[in-house]
Amino acid sequence: MVETVTGTNRSAGISLEELLPYDTRAVPGHFAKPSPLPVGPTRVPVEAYYSQDYYREEIDKMWLRVWQVACHEDDLPDVGDYTPYEVADRSFVIVKCGPDEYKAFKNACLHRGRMLCEKPGKRARELRCPFHAWAWHLDGTNKEIPCQWDFPGIDPEEQNLTEVPLGRWGRFIFINPDPDCESLEQFLGEFPSHFEKYPYEKRYKVAQVSKVIRANWKVVQDAFAESWHVFSTHPQMVSAFGDPNGQFDAWGNVSRQYNTGGTPSPHLEDVKDWGELEPSESGRPREMHPFCGAIYELREDGNVDVTMPNGAHGVFTRTAEWVEGDLGHADIHLCQWVAGPQCKEGVPVPPIGMATARPMERTLPTLDRKDLVELIAGMRTERAAAHREYIRPLFGDVVDEISDTELTGNTYYNVFPNLMPTPGLAESAIWFRFRPVGMNPEECVMDVYVLAPMPVEGEHPPAPPVKVLDPDVSWTEAEEVGFLARVLDQDTNNMPWVQRGVRNVDSGYVQLADYNETKLRNTYLKLDEYMARP
Ligand code: FES
Ligand SMILES: [Fe+2]
Repeated sequence: MVETVTGTNRSAGISLEELLPYDTRAVPGHFAKPSPLPVGPTRVPVEAYYSQDYYREEIDKMWLRVWQVACHEDDLPDVGDYTPYEVADRSFVIVKCGPDEYKAFKNACLHRGRMLCEKPGKRARELRCPFHAWAWHLDGTNKEIPCQWDFPGIDPEEQNLTEVPLGRWGRFIFINPDPDCESLEQFLGEFPSHFEKYPYEKRYKVAQVSKVIRANWKVVQDAFAESWHVFSTHPQMVSAFGDPNGQFDAWGNVSRQYNTGGTPSPHLEDVKDWGELEPSESGRPREMHPFCGAIYELREDGNVDVTMPNGAHGVFTRTAEWVEGDLGHADIHLCQWVAGPQCKEGVPVPPIGMATARPMERTLPTLDRKDLVELIAGMRTERAAAHREYIRPLFGDVVDEISDTELTGNTYYNVFPNLMPTPGLAESAIWFRFRPVGMNPEECVMDVYVLAPMPVEGEHPPAPPVKVLDPDVSWTEAEEVGFLARVLDQDTNNMPWVQRGVRNVDSGYVQLADYNETKLRNTYLKLDEYMARP
């Protein structure tokens, strides 16, 4: 593998900047004018991941003062629908109180504090506490205090629920527990303008999967906030990903990673072409390691046969422990890839959202840089044209205005503190949200939203209930996330080990890459700003 440093601390791989002149459409300014973060170093104290004191401060200074997604409009289709939103040790209730009106309240009865709701509810005409039946109108004003004679010192008119600021964008409902907060529009800045051609106001929620993970929410979010882990954690994807060739930008609370699709990974530059991977005779999962050419194949006994191009062979468990053979070491991620849980039959392959993506040819002719850029730009143009036709029935003729850049790259935003939206220019889009739940900083919930364009005619189907996955359950149990499940399993497998490992870092901090880890850096720099407030 090569080290790829250029004079401007960028990967030596082909960049978006080099490809832009070949785009067949106008490229939005937010791609054409890079907005990188100033260089680091950025260091994060390891206490941020496990210390109770840090966590308490993070809740008080950040979570209780920041805009965050509480739910989606499709969670509350009818007037009177309500849902709790949990973050850290707090709970809020979001209510649809009119045909196009929503309110958020602190989820606590004003009598003795019982949560008003612990699960979603439908078409309520009031919010009534299940304990002694105090009740509120949907707009939070007090409706009834049973045995009111026994509360002579209480004026019912002063017993309204505590309302929390609420904002809406893209059919997501955001709240900010701080009554003195800036508006959601100010907070999001230019972010909504990036979605003007493919607005989320025209998407609906197909599914939501919420998985409990035994790691701090930042450990989990960070695992999805850069793509240069692909060559190590997802080696099976490296030839298609151009992993460190991306462009990273930050605008206030929002940061973005753009993966320059179709560009060859510089990690493969010095690597031999091992040829095509033949399908396995057994029909069991099989994969080739792109760097060493080893073939990983599931055995009937559940272990993995690993065979090097020179014939060296070993048998390993699913977690890469040696069982037998002359080969002593195997890649844990590929062992898990072939021997771990597989997607159920019928789950879409290729993955949701990547329907017309195709792997980059592994071997490109030896060309000088300019000719290579032209060759790749041509392939991107061709792929963009096919993709335009593929999504035209979903998005309409606006696709003619969408650039090759937008159609051929993978774009992942981060909205501070914990939301990862994507443009989702396909039959569905996947968004992530990460949040601490309860008072354990070493556990969190990762929510995966699957969103699809609304049908051109007729109503969209109602959102199904949220599917909850426990920590030891594979993502493949959630058919909703499609083929992506196995990739998420690879990511998730690292997380508890990061959580365990950070306690052993002698320096007391972890350190972030200047450019590839822009999104992480932006998050931590913003978090620092919140933590520094009085
Ligand atoms: S705690 Fe709610 S009515 Fe008593
Ligand atoms: Fe990953």
